Amino acid sequence: MNIGIVGCGNISSIYLKNLTGVFNNTTVYAVCDIDSAKASAQAQAYNVDKIMTLDEMLADPEIDIILNITTPKTHYEVCKKVLLAGKHVYVEKPLSISYCEGKELLSIAKEKGLYIGGAPDTFLGAGIQTAISLVKSGAIGRPIGGAAYMMCPGHERWHPSPEFYYDMGGGPLFDMGPYYITALVRLLGRVHSVFAVGTRAFEERTITSKPKFGQKIPVKVDTHNVGILSFENGAVVTLVTSFDVIKHSMPNIELYGTNGSLMVPDPNKFGGPVQLATQPKEPYVDVPLISEYSENSRGIGVSEMVLAIEENRINNASGELALHVLEIMEAFVKSSETGERIFIESAPSPEIPMDWDVAIGELKTKI
Ligand SMILES: NC(=O)c1ccc[n+]([C@@H]2O[C@H](COP(=O)([O-])OP(=O)(O)OC[C@H]3O[C@@H](n4cnc5c(N)ncnc54)[C@H](O)[C@@H]3O)[C@@H](O)[C@H]2O)c1
Repeated sequence: MNIGIVGCGNISSIYLKNLTGVFNNTTVYAVCDIDSAKASAQAQAYNVDKIMTLDEMLADPEIDIILNITTPKTHYEVCKKVLLAGKHVYVEKPLSISYCEGKELLSIAKEKGLYIGGAPDTFLGAGIQTAISLVKSGAIGRPIGGAAYMMCPGHERWHPSPEFYYDMGGGPLFDMGPYYITALVRLLGRVHSVFAVGTRAFEERTITSKPKFGQKIPVKVDTHNVGILSFENGAVVTLVTSFDVIKHSMPNIELYGTNGSLMVPDPNKFGGPVQLATQPKEPYVDVPLISEYSENSRGIGVSEMVLAIEENRINNASGELALHVLEIMEAFVKSSETGERIFIESAPSPEIPMDWDVAIGELKTKI
């Protein structure tokens, strides 16, 4: 299917690389950016013939799907326009910066019979898929609890335009939370409530990356969020997301069950290691991964959405899943503001089991 990419910034290169050169069911038909120099540079680098405006893309019947990889505050506005124009949309995380807007997008898509897909798609990689299959097969028994930590010193050290990370819809929660919460939801199921507290180390941050070295960024969101996710299956997980931590020694995600513990790999990546321990005095042991899908396959969610459209079934990195994750993140903020436990109304779509060996063969014959 033909894809129109909106947003040619930092993350666009890996999408362009994979959608033009790796997955065999996607063609990048055109690119667009409000900064025309960025659109031209990416069109040239990845041999994309057409540079268009968003309106031109929406009017072009050759384009089936718009990939929205603009910054978070623009996600809702671009997705809404795309859906109203009758095209499918796949959007980078978060789905929107508000749950209410996210719900509206899903209801437009439903009304029009269109697909919404949403990042992250890293949970489709070998690492998280192996962990999911272990939990589902009962390797740790009944899941009871867990701990998840995404803590770093902040993205102003490396990203060329890091302002959006400290604006509404940014912060460690909305930026990195989707990887952790999506993986946890696929591992443990629906979240039914959240209790959280947030704080921030600085009211202003200084960019130390190029080309904006020395510029100040106002911080409009909490940059250290600590929350408790209660899952419908009874498991309780602590999640910490922070841009205020220089160094730490905590796991990415560790799950505890009645028969064992599981070390889940970095949910921002596609690979392992996955480690299991079923005896208190024995060390964790590496579990072989169930697929070879360990390299950076960003865009697999778009490719899998194309398959889902063709097969007339739900896509794995679905709008419902992204909306559930968004509601959970918003609940962190609400709980921090009110001191109350927040109950979640949304539910993720079910995971569509995939035969990963077949999927690799089918989706990646361009290699
Ligand atoms: N940078 C990363 O490593 C990374 C990783 C994973 C996900 N993401 C996500 O990808 C998205 C984009 O991140 P990024 O780092 O590429 O940001 P970026 O600021 O580098 O790029 C965003 C691009 O979108 C363009 N843009 C903004 N509004 C537009 C509009 N209305 N129409 C057309 N173009 C528009 C901007 O000009 C810019 O070139 C974000 O949602 C982010 O969370 C980024």
